[in-house]
Amino acid sequence: MTDAKPTRVAVIGSGPAGFYTAGHLLSESDSAVEVDMFERLPTPWGLVRSGVAPDHPKIKSVTRIYERTASDARFRYFGNVELGKDITRTELAAHYHAIVYATGSLKDRAMGIPGEDLPGSWAATDFVGWYNAHPDYRDLEFDLSHERAVVIGNGNVALDVARMLVLSHAELAKTDIADHTLDVLEHSKIREVVVVGRRGPAQAAFTNPELRELGEMDGVGVRVSSAELDRALAVPDPNIDATAERNLTALRKYAEGTVRGERLVSLRFLASPVELRGDSAGVREVVLAHNALEADDSGALRARPTGETEVIEAGLVMRAIGYRGEALPEVPFDERRHIIPNAQGRVIDPSDSAHRAGEYVVGWIKRGPTGVIGTNKKDAQETVDVLLEDLEAGRLTAPASPDPDAIETLLRERKPDLVDYAGWELIDRHERSLGEPHGRPRVKLTSIDEMLEVAAGQQPENA
Ligand SMILES: Cc1cc2nc3c(=O)[nH]c(=O)nc-3n(C[C@H](O)[C@H](O)[C@H](O)COP(=O)(O)OP(=O)(O)OC[C@H]3O[C@@H](n4cnc5c(N)ncnc54)[C@H](O)[C@@H]3O)c2cc1C
Ligand SMILES: NC(=O)c1ccc[n+]([C@@H]2O[C@H](COP(=O)([O-])OP(=O)(O)OC[C@H]3O[C@@H](n4cnc5c(N)ncnc54)[C@H](OP(=O)(O)O)[C@@H]3O)[C@@H](O)[C@H]2O)c1
Repeated sequence: MTDAKPTRVAVIGSGPAGFYTAGHLLSESDSAVEVDMFERLPTPWGLVRSGVAPDHPKIKSVTRIYERTASDARFRYFGNVELGKDITRTELAAHYHAIVYATGSLKDRAMGIPGEDLPGSWAATDFVGWYNAHPDYRDLEFDLSHERAVVIGNGNVALDVARMLVLSHAELAKTDIADHTLDVLEHSKIREVVVVGRRGPAQAAFTNPELRELGEMDGVGVRVSSAELDRALAVPDPNIDATAERNLTALRKYAEGTVRGERLVSLRFLASPVELRGDSAGVREVVLAHNALEADDSGALRARPTGETEVIEAGLVMRAIGYRGEALPEVPFDERRHIIPNAQGRVIDPSDSAHRAGEYVVGWIKRGPTGVIGTNKKDAQETVDVLLEDLEAGRLTAPASPDPDAIETLLRERKPDLVDYAGWELIDRHERSLGEPHGRPRVKLTSIDEMLEVAAGQQPENA
């Protein structure tokens, strides 16, 4: 590359996808590239901070890789700046050669059944945001005064939610779980969490360590019915993989073992919620329709109702049936798949299927809300590869205002409380110092105002 002027890239979103994109761009391009990252919260890391369960601290240590990226002199962090609210796509296009959307999929999905809106019926996204101290969810109030909760869905989020509801106070108290959650969970009356999958155990989306971990919690038994396993496994799945095989081994062990513990996780299969019953005081019952498995035209096994139903008493229902992406202003959106339409990461204009020059997408908002943290690394590589290919081919247009100071001046005028990386480091240090005397990794701030005060070098008023 001979062009001495740096190529300027705006990355929107500071989760794994955004950080892997920044990392690849800075380490792999043979041209001068500068990356500015925009994040709507003062704090970075996306779902690594606000999704990954508090009892999984090792997984969160992936942020050390992102910290290395952030320490690159060609990287800047603009926290507390939301695309579509504080800055528009058109404005960004005037300052950058390329924009990469990495905004994730933060909304919930509905089951679409009667009673879903009763008090006590929640999306897992709410509960997860609340226990992880995400500022948007800090004021939610969960009533845990009932003995049984039902979690709908057979993915890892369902297992996270179930674990959070049954882990002992002693185990939770050493994590970075939100303080408000710790207090509420300490007085929880929940004794049984029933996790319900609409298909069979071989089709569950659990990963092996997460399923095995259920059996390793102090004072918690895991109940699985051998008869239910047999019924589901009577229909062989041609797509069964090694992960599912290992899950089946773990499930058989649960089914054959003695169930002991003051609290219980029951894993149920072949059942779909069809109605939540209750009154203005809240959910009281979950009506489950029993299913059988049936191959569709592609050979995949689908759930078909048998006509039988069952009623379970429960005062809390969490639907962990997947996350959902949201449209960004001025950016194309696929309303069916809830993603930004793209070809290998190049944003596609749905009207003519042409690439919107200079616009790219990565992570959950590119491919939908599945995949672990590492999946986004490979995904970011694909997006960065096409971006650099377009750069080489001269397909990126120089912005009208390429001076890096120009965008910062604009942002600081508009958002005097913008949080830069040094501001985040102050928040990080403050949270760690709050946790340290209690043997906790950190105590997270939950209020944006408090975060902004700490980022500005002040003590928060409510500290
Ligand atoms: C509850 C839960 C637990 C998980 N646990 C694990 C785990 O233990 N291990 C594992 O490997 N994977 C786990 N995952 C999966 C992993 O978190 C995802 O693969 C990953 O976070 C997706 O990365 P992303 O960058 O696409 O999205 P996100 O991590 O969601 O990041 C998107 C970022 O964009 C920001 N943003 C959104 N809109 C705007 C806007 N308009 N302007 C500016 N910024 C914006 C958001 O605030 C957010 O910071 C978990 C997922 C969930 C939901
Ligand atoms: N510890 C970890 O590594 C960890 C923790 C949390 C999340 N994650 C990852 O994050 C991603 C998202 O996880 P997730 O649990 O949200 O999604 P997921 O893995 O896609 O699981 C969603 C579950 O919801 C079920 N479902 C969907 N619609 C339903 C409906 N209407 N009624 C009943 N059930 C329904 C699905 O069943 P069908 O299969 O029948 O559609 C599936 O069992 C996954 O890749 C996951 O591995 C990882």
